[in-house]
Amino acid sequence: MTAYKIVDHTYDVVVVGAGGAGLRATLGLGSAGLKTACITKVFPTRSHTTAAQGGIGAALGNMAEDNWRWHMYDTVKGSDWLGDQDAIEYMCREAIPAVHELEHYGVPFSRTEDGKIYQRPFGGHMRNFGEAPVQRACAAADRTGHAILHTLYQQCLKHRCEFFVEYIALDLIMDEAGVCRGVMAWNLDDGTIHRFRAHQTVLATGGYGRAWFSCTSAHTCTGDGHGMVSRAGLALQDMEFVQFHPTGIYGSGCLITEGARGEGGYLTNAAGERFMERYAPNAKDLASRDVVSRAMTVEIREGRGIGEHKDHIHLHLEHLGAETLESRLPGISETAKIFAGVDVTREPIPVLPTVHYNMGGIPTNLYGEVLRPTREKPDATVTGLMAIGEAACVSVHGANRLGTNSLLDIVVFGRAAAIRCRQILKGGQQHKPLPKDAGQSALDRFDRLRNAAGNRLTAQIRQDMQRTMQTDAAVFRTESSLKDGVAKMTQVAASLSDLKLADRSLIWNSDLVEALELHNLMDCALATIVSAEARHESRGAHAREDFPERDDTEWMKHTLAWVDRSGAVRLDYRPVHTYTLTDEVEYITPRKRVY
Ligand code: FUM
Repeated sequence: MTAYKIVDHTYDVVVVGAGGAGLRATLGLGSAGLKTACITKVFPTRSHTTAAQGGIGAALGNMAEDNWRWHMYDTVKGSDWLGDQDAIEYMCREAIPAVHELEHYGVPFSRTEDGKIYQRPFGGHMRNFGEAPVQRACAAADRTGHAILHTLYQQCLKHRCEFFVEYIALDLIMDEAGVCRGVMAWNLDDGTIHRFRAHQTVLATGGYGRAWFSCTSAHTCTGDGHGMVSRAGLALQDMEFVQFHPTGIYGSGCLITEGARGEGGYLTNAAGERFMERYAPNAKDLASRDVVSRAMTVEIREGRGIGEHKDHIHLHLEHLGAETLESRLPGISETAKIFAGVDVTREPIPVLPTVHYNMGGIPTNLYGEVLRPTREKPDATVTGLMAIGEAACVSVHGANRLGTNSLLDIVVFGRAAAIRCRQILKGGQQHKPLPKDAGQSALDRFDRLRNAAGNRLTAQIRQDMQRTMQTDAAVFRTESSLKDGVAKMTQVAASLSDLKLADRSLIWNSDLVEALELHNLMDCALATIVSAEARHESRGAHAREDFPERDDTEWMKHTLAWVDRSGAVRLDYRPVHTYTLTDEVEYITPRKRVY
């Protein structure tokens, strides 16, 4: 056992992750005078928020009449009534000031002729409670996430926020009373171990798309916060709800924004038919993502797919004209050229539904506080621990997220977490002494992994996991494939005990980082497949062929999943919030979801 020298740090708040959620929280905390550290495994502007393309949702009404209540209705409907309506109300109402705030911070939004923020249509966003598509996605061309991320980072620098770059978080420091006291981290540059002590630890670590073989997520999206929470004995929520984006590039999985269909792009099958008209007569290609992804999958399964293997669909943009493509969609024009060899002014892009977003995550309330739900107290919280952004499940996306609501989620709840910290903390408050062995269990695990000398490489185990999830936690699910998936994932998780790290003498060896990430992904994958097998209904992105209908009587509830160290998963459920935050809106009663 190696004796590691520990470098100690003391802060009011530690934020883990520097994507949009982490940076928005860090900015709010730093500018309020709370001593804040933001630790991140990649340079902040390389975080996955940079890949968000089409826009951030807010009912500004710059292009035509809009209303945040319509946005709320669309989000509740999009969530297939699994979202918590108090949180959705908060997000949709706060969207408007949040986007104006971003504008004032300096986000270079595209503009209308009269200088207002440009807004485009996006799937599932409608006017007047579902009547017809509305232009609600506030866009910076097709690089909205990139623009927001860079602006927030610059604002953080302006407020002299402190960053620890290329530090990977290892585990939470939890005391015997179940209070979170900070986080352990490993500095990738010089190999030193760091103990960050804080009154609040805010997890903003993103999603876990890399549990699948093909996804639009960056290689860094490995559920690091989920893994730490799970190892701390806390629950993950609604993990069975995984979004497939309709338009990942066939073969590479790179994202082609839904904004492309917002600008007038459309999908066709092998017969050249605009098939979405059959599946969603009103919204057509701008139906909600789960609806479009299922329609594409059905077309392919019924033999109407394109290409030698009839295994993809075409996205047409060529009719939009070079000028629109250049001004509104320059990023995806380039991506299509590089990753599909397609000139979008002349030919369609081959696309396929691709894993894109995790609706589930670390359960929180709308202040970002992590929940420790029990039957008696479904909304009880963990002192000292928060989660925001894709890592969290507030739940504003329920069973299916609307496009543009992820950028919105990160800024609204990043800000909410900072506001909450300002309410409950005074800067510079004394810290209780830490137990002598604080962080030791994290170091023991780190040391075991570092010296892992089994027979199977990280990459081999990861591929087993990714192939299983790709096959068995797919767009359509059945009892037999899910049962098979649970059995296979249990075996794959068990094979972690036979892990072997790649040869350490290699000049550049990232295998230890990848092994840490694989452990995080494994808990996410297990929680996902077991939760999916148990949910006997179809709701949002969870489409069971053997249970094709939504069942509100039995299943309008959030799944909670605890993964223990043997890989066993225990499930329980907590009620969906069926109330609103204020009396300015009424609870939206469940109804059939058609577009
Ligand atoms: O299609 C897109 O531009 C992705 C946006 C989102 O996931 O919100």
